[in-house]
Amino acid sequence: MKKILVIGASGQIGSDLVIELRKRFGNENTIASDIRLASDEIMSSGTFETLNVLEKDNLINVCKKYNIQEIYHLAAILSGNAEKNPLKSWEINMQGLLNVLEVAKELSLNKIFWPSSIAVFGPSTTKTNTPQFDIMDPNTVYGISKLAGERWCEYFYEKFNVDVRSLRYPGLISYKAEAGGGTTDYAVEIFYEAIKNKKYECFLSAETSLPMMYMEDAINATIELMEADKQKIKIRSSYNLAGISFNPKEIANEIKKHITDFKITYKEDFRQAIANSWPKSIDDSVAKKDWGWQHKYNLAEMTKIMLKEIAKKLS
Ligand code: SER
Repeated sequence: MKKILVIGASGQIGSDLVIELRKRFGNENTIASDIRLASDEIMSSGTFETLNVLEKDNLINVCKKYNIQEIYHLAAILSGNAEKNPLKSWEINMQGLLNVLEVAKELSLNKIFWPSSIAVFGPSTTKTNTPQFDIMDPNTVYGISKLAGERWCEYFYEKFNVDVRSLRYPGLISYKAEAGGGTTDYAVEIFYEAIKNKKYECFLSAETSLPMMYMEDAINATIELMEADKQKIKIRSSYNLAGISFNPKEIANEIKKHITDFKITYKEDFRQAIANSWPKSIDDSVAKKDWGWQHKYNLAEMTKIMLKEIAKKLS
C-alpha cells in the first residue's frame, strides 16, 4: 500500500480528507501533519506529525521517515485572512507550495495534490459559467498566490515531470471543521448560528452568488482526480470544479424550510469586494470530459445534512 502525507490536516479540507484517505488506503498509510493538532478523530485513528511546510528539511525528514509516495498539500492562508497580512500570506502560500514541489522532485515522489481556487479569477473574468480558460486578473493576495501556484505546478510537470494535480475549489461547506478565514465562510457559519440563535448577520449582501460545494463532493473529486490514469489528466495548472451556486438569500430560504423562524440580516464587510471579484458560477465541463467528474449534492440535500450534523455536534 502507498504511503500518503497530508499537510494541513487540521484545516477545513484536511479534517475530512484524512478520514476518507484512511478509510480507503488504511489508517497506518495516511500520515496527517499540521502546525497545530488535528481533530480527535484524526489524532486517535493514525499517525500525526507536527510539521511546518516552510521548514523544508523537516518535510524531507517526514517523507523519508514514512517512505511517503504521495502528498496532499492543503496548508494555506485563505482569502479574507490573507488580506490582513499580505506578505506573510504570500510566503506561506507560495514558499509552502514550492517546498512541496521541490521535495517531490528531489525524492521522486509519485504524485502531489495541491488545491487552487475560484479566487484565481478576477473582475475581468466572465462571471457566469466561467470557462476553464478565461481572463485571470485576481486582485487578492490569496488569488494571486493561487494563480502563481497554478503556473508553478504546470512548470514542475513540464520541466521535471512531477505528477502534480489540482482543482479550483469553490467555497467548501462541511460540518467537521469550521471554515478558516475565507470569503465563502458565511455558508458554514450560517448553519451554526441558525441552530444556536435562529439568526445570522451575513457579511455578504443578499444577492451575492458564489460557486459552492458540499465537502463530500470535494473530497470525492480530489481522490478521483488523484486516482485517475495519468494520461487522462490533461490540465496541469488546475481544473475548474463546480457543485452548486447560490447566494445568502437562497441558502437562508432553504434553512427556513427547517427552522421556520430563522432570520438573516446583512452587514457587508471587506469580504464583499472580494466576492464581487469572483465568478458566480463555474463551467467544469473539462473535468467532466477528462476524468469523468460529476457532483452529487444540491442545496437542499446539503442543508438537510448540515443542520442535522451540526445540531448533533452542538448538543
Ligand atoms: N473558500 C475560499 C475563500 O473564501 C476560496 O477558495 O477564501
